[in-house]
Amino acid sequence: MEITLDAPLDMHLHLRDGDMLKLTAPLSADFAGAVVMPNLVPPVAEPAQMTAYAERIAAAMDGREFRAYMTLFFTPMSEAALRAAQQTPGFFALKLYPAGITTNSEGGVADLAQAEPTLRAMEELGIPLLVHGESHGFVLDRESEFLAVYRRLAQRFPKLRICMEHITTAAALRLLDEFENLCATVTLQHLLITLDDVAGGALQPHLFCKPIAKRPEDRDALLQAALGGHPRLFFGSDSAPHPRCKKEACGCAAGVFTAPVALPRLAQLFAENGAADRLQGFVSGHARQWYGLRVPSRRVVLQDVPMPVPAAYRGFGQQVVPMFAGRVLPWSVKA
Ligand code: DOR
Ligand code: ZN
Repeated sequence: MEITLDAPLDMHLHLRDGDMLKLTAPLSADFAGAVVMPNLVPPVAEPAQMTAYAERIAAAMDGREFRAYMTLFFTPMSEAALRAAQQTPGFFALKLYPAGITTNSEGGVADLAQAEPTLRAMEELGIPLLVHGESHGFVLDRESEFLAVYRRLAQRFPKLRICMEHITTAAALRLLDEFENLCATVTLQHLLITLDDVAGGALQPHLFCKPIAKRPEDRDALLQAALGGHPRLFFGSDSAPHPRCKKEACGCAAGVFTAPVALPRLAQLFAENGAADRLQGFVSGHARQWYGLRVPSRRVVLQDVPMPVPAAYRGFGQQVVPMFAGRVLPWSVKA
């Protein structure tokens, strides 16, 4: 069996920088493009930094066709500054992190009230807002506690397109249905695993990410929405490579590295649930429609031919362990 996709997109990707970028960029290039996260050190907060980063990404892609949809780390910006960003080639959106909520987000937003003028201007200019939606509360409640913030943003800025990034709960899905100006991304791991897979037995550092995987009923609701073709639910891998030594460590870094396995595992998931025809929408069509993206056409064929997943990907002095390391996936990308 084969599934042919046109221009699959990853709507939430961490490519990092330096040697890690050189290693992970080609491993992410089965996708025709991706929304690239700005949480470098220092964060990508200025158009000039963004342009330079986009050039480093293009260099690391080494001739591969890949469209990087660049984001700027949300900081208060004037309308003029937003206009300048909007005119910068490759610019896609602003990514808002609550201060200190995850990897390299110390410079994020501490007081949302101060973000309002920027949000108003973004709404007028049609710049999408991508949000890491977690509170600083109890780890399992962080997303549900943040839903009140999404609700307030959606009401106060009805024309602002707001993306709830990497949702992990059934409650977030219900909010999606309350407001037409909300969309959401969901990762591969949150369609597959629960907290039990992370911490129910021997601790699995390579499945530890933020937001943490939740309850079976949350996972099941997310999966049903994805398989059912929810038009405002997009695939965003949140593939977040960390050096192996930072994952297999006391104080394990958050992030699951899924870029090289995402399309094969999604093909398996959709095929075994009789939803192969819905994969195109989930990994490209819905996002294109919602954001009005014009993506160069590119055919990617997935086949039910096994893919052995290496124990680790190595190169440029880096080592990173993917999800399903050392296992054989039943589907692969056809060369
Ligand atoms: O698990 C995560 N890793 N969640 C995030 O929000 C950030 C990401 C990273 O950059 O490592
Ligand atoms: Zn992320």
